[in-house]
Amino acid sequence: MITALKFTLLLLALAFAQGLHYNYIDELDKEAGTVRAVQASQYVSLWPLPQKVKILDLSFKLTSFNIVDAKESSAGSSCSLLQDAYRRYYEYMFGIAKRQGPRKSRLTGPSELTELQVWITSPDSECDGYPSVTSDESYELSVDLPYAVLKAPKVWGALHGLETFSQLVYEDQYGAKSINSTAISDFPRFAHRGILLDSSRHFLPLKVILANLETMAMNKFNVFHWHIVDDQSFPYLSRTFPQLSQQGAYHPYTHVYTPADVKMVIEFGRLRGIRVVPEFDTPGHTQSWGKGQKDLLTPCYSGSKPSGSFGPVNPILNTTYDFMSQFFKEISTVFPDAYVHLGGDEVDFTCWKSNPDIQKFMDQQGYGQDYKKLESFYIQKLLDIVTTTHKGYMIWQEVFDNGVKLKPDTVVHVWIGGGANEEMGKVTAAGYTTILSAPWYLDYISYAQDWQKYYKVEPLDFDGTEEQKKLVIGGEACLWGEYVDATNLTPRLWPRASAVAERLWSAKDVTDINDAFNRLSVHRCRMVARGIPAEPLFSSYCPREYKGI
Ligand SMILES: *[C@@H]1O[C@H](CO)[C@@H](O)[C@H](O)[C@H]1NC(C)=O
Ligand SMILES: *[C@@H]1O[C@H](CO)[C@@H](O)[C@H](O)[C@H]1NC(C)=O
Repeated sequence: MITALKFTLLLLALAFAQGLHYNYIDELDKEAGTVRAVQASQYVSLWPLPQKVKILDLSFKLTSFNIVDAKESSAGSSCSLLQDAYRRYYEYMFGIAKRQGPRKSRLTGPSELTELQVWITSPDSECDGYPSVTSDESYELSVDLPYAVLKAPKVWGALHGLETFSQLVYEDQYGAKSINSTAISDFPRFAHRGILLDSSRHFLPLKVILANLETMAMNKFNVFHWHIVDDQSFPYLSRTFPQLSQQGAYHPYTHVYTPADVKMVIEFGRLRGIRVVPEFDTPGHTQSWGKGQKDLLTPCYSGSKPSGSFGPVNPILNTTYDFMSQFFKEISTVFPDAYVHLGGDEVDFTCWKSNPDIQKFMDQQGYGQDYKKLESFYIQKLLDIVTTTHKGYMIWQEVFDNGVKLKPDTVVHVWIGGGANEEMGKVTAAGYTTILSAPWYLDYISYAQDWQKYYKVEPLDFDGTEEQKKLVIGGEACLWGEYVDATNLTPRLWPRASAVAERLWSAKDVTDINDAFNRLSVHRCRMVARGIPAEPLFSSYCPREYKGI
C-alpha cells in the first residue's frame, strides 16, 4: 500500500528522471547537429542527387499520363524489362488511381504533360542481357512540352532515369500530380554500388530479399552481394551436392534457397539493373559446409587424438579440390554475373596447428610455422579452379595481404579499419581494382543520425596517384546478420544505406549535410509511401505513414 505522499514523491521522481532523459537526448542531438526541422531543398527529394540538375519555376499537370517507347528507340515493346519498369513506376506515381487512370484535370491547356517517351539510343539496348561492372548507366531526362523525353544508351540508364522521373512528380495542393520543367544529365561516379546481405546467420525469406532489391533500385544501387552461406547455416540448395543444405541449413525444406528461388532473385535483380554476386566464403567460415560434406573440413586434435571438432577447409587433401571444382562449376552456371566472391577472410589457424597431418604437410612444403603460406596454398588452388570456370573473382583483403597471386581483374574488398584507408593505397599501388566497405558496416548501430557518418566518407581519401584512384570502382554497405532477420532488416538498412548510395553515385562535391538531410527526409517518406518500412531520421512525420504489415 503506498501512501499519497509516497505516491506524489514517486511522480516527482519520475518527472525528474524524464526531464533528465529528455535533456540528455537533446544534448546528443545537438552534438549530432540534428535539432532542426525539414526544409525544402532546391532539389526537392532527388536521391541520390543527379550529376546535373536544372529545375525551372514552371509546372505541368500530369493528365492521362503514359510512359511509352520513343519511335526511334532501339528497344521496342518487345523489351519486357522496360515494359515491366513502366508498369512499376506508373504504379509508384499514380498508385491506386491506376485503375481509373490518372485524375483528369478540368482545366485543359498548355500546362499539361501527357507522355514520357523512353528512347534507347544505342543499337544494342541490352534489354535481354545482364548488367555488369562496365554497363553504361547514364541517362538524360528532359521534362518539357509537348512531352518528356528520357534518353539512355542502354536500358540500365533508362531504369535509373525512370526512378529519377518518379522522384520529380509531386502532388499540388489539390492533390493533382504535377512535375516541373526539368533538365537532368546523369551518370554514376562509381560503377560498383553494392549492398551485402547475410542469409546464413539468419535465414532471409525470399520476400525480404526481393523487397530490398526493389529498395536498392530506388537508391540506384546496382550490386546485391549475397553472403549466402557461412559457419551458421548453408541455405543454398546445390543440385550437385544437395546434402550441403540437407544437413547444413537451419531446416532442409523451409530454410533453403531452391534453384527456382535463386533464379527468381537473379531475374528480379536484372529487371532492376542489379547484379547478383554470390559469396561462397572459404576456407574459414565453413562450419555448415562440413555437416553435409565428409572430410571437407580439417579435424582438430586435442593432444594426439582428434577432438571431434573441425576447423577450416582441409587444404592438404586432393578430394577438397575435386569437391571445389565441381561445386564452383555449378555456381558458375547458376549465377550469370562475371564475378563470384570467394571470401578468404578471418581464417583461424588453431585447428590447422593442432593437426599432425597438416604439420607433416607444412614440413614437406617447407612452410615452417607460417600458416599464412598454407592458407595461400589453398586460395591459390581455389582461384585456379574458379578461373577455369571463366569467372572473375572478388576476395576480402586478407587474401591480398597474404601475398596470394591474383588475376589482374581481381576485385579486392577492403573491410578492416575506418574510412578510406592505407589498405586502399596498398591494393591500388599493386594495380588491383578495389571496393570499400570498412566505414560502411551497417550492422553496427548507435543512437542518433549515424547516416551522417556514412555520408561523410570520401572513398578516394587516401594517399595515392590519380592512376591508383581510378582503380577504386566503388563500395558496399554491409548488413551482417548476427542480430538481423526479416523482422528488422529493412528498417535497419534504410535509409542508412541511402547515405552510401548517394556517396557512390553523386559527384564528389555533393557533401552539404543539411541539404542531404532535407532531401533524404523526403526520400525516406517516399520509400515509406511505397510500402518500405524505412526508419525515420529524426522527429518528423510522413504525409503517408507506414501502415504496418
Ligand atoms: C516548380 O514550379 C513552381 C511554379 O509552377 C514553383 O513555385 C516551384 O518553386 C518549382 N519547384 C522547384 C523545385 O523549382
Ligand atoms: C594428389 O594429387 C597430386 C597431383 O595430382 C598427386 O601427385 C598425388 O599423388 C595425389 N595424392 C593422393 C593421395 O591421391
